[in-house]
Amino acid sequence: MQHLITTVDFTNDEVLKIFDDATIFSDLQSSSILSGKLVVTLFFENSTRTRSSFEIASKRLGAEVVNLEVQTSSTKKGETVEDTVANLNAMKPDAIIVRHSKCGLPASLIEHVNCPILNAGDGTNAHPTQALLDLFTIYKHFDKKIDGKKLAMIGDIKTSRVASSNLALLPRFGVEPILVAPEHFMPNKNFKKVQFLKDVIDDVDVVMSLRTQLERHEKIFYKNLEEFGKDYCVTKESFGNRNILLLHPGPVNRNIDISDEMLKDSRCKVLEQVTNGVAVRMAILKKLILKQ
Ligand code: NCD
Repeated sequence: MQHLITTVDFTNDEVLKIFDDATIFSDLQSSSILSGKLVVTLFFENSTRTRSSFEIASKRLGAEVVNLEVQTSSTKKGETVEDTVANLNAMKPDAIIVRHSKCGLPASLIEHVNCPILNAGDGTNAHPTQALLDLFTIYKHFDKKIDGKKLAMIGDIKTSRVASSNLALLPRFGVEPILVAPEHFMPNKNFKKVQFLKDVIDDVDVVMSLRTQLERHEKIFYKNLEEFGKDYCVTKESFGNRNILLLHPGPVNRNIDISDEMLKDSRCKVLEQVTNGVAVRMAILKKLILKQ
């Protein structure tokens, strides 16, 4: 049984096969390849894109989807998540998609199920489908020629699970991350580090902006986010006329992560990432449920 807990669960060949399938699914049209299958989503943390993306991906392939309403579920009556999942598993779903604030929770569920577990984000640990869709967006844009590309990752890198999954995945395909952050948002990882975007903007092909994860901070670093935005907001001024791709996993804090003007700029691919996210998740569901 194959699960997707972190990007390490897929070999490079498997990732490339997912990208081939995602390319076929790119128009997001309906098919019936997962007809008769049942996908359960279990989101213990807020989500707009990821949950709807998984649901739409499942439905586009003909699967049925049950979204467990965590607010009204028995975990509110003291049942453990493991027991909730074992009970759901007893109803014979074909995949369970989980998001939880606790690092490692999706991995701990594997021993309680007979179907694939897909990690839709666990605390600050991992968000594998986001990293795969980010890499797919880069791969498509550069017509598969991504070896040697440089990506500036800017913002709250330390607490972001999107960052952590991307930092594990991108180098496997020859994309070099360069970390752009103030000291308190810098992870303890062995990549090139700079303080400001202007220090590397001339050398990079892609900029990935990240949201400040206020809900995960134990300390207050800024009186207000505008203070952070003054130095770290990606603007037309910082991009100039350079031919660079701008990514963000969403939700974007406008004029703090990226300026209104840059969000409208054709180099900003935030909505393309969302479309690619459905195609990549279709490919992943196909792989894990049909084992092909
Ligand atoms: C991210 C997440 O939840 O980790 N959003 C997403 O899934 N697209 C990023 C974030 O919350 O900042």
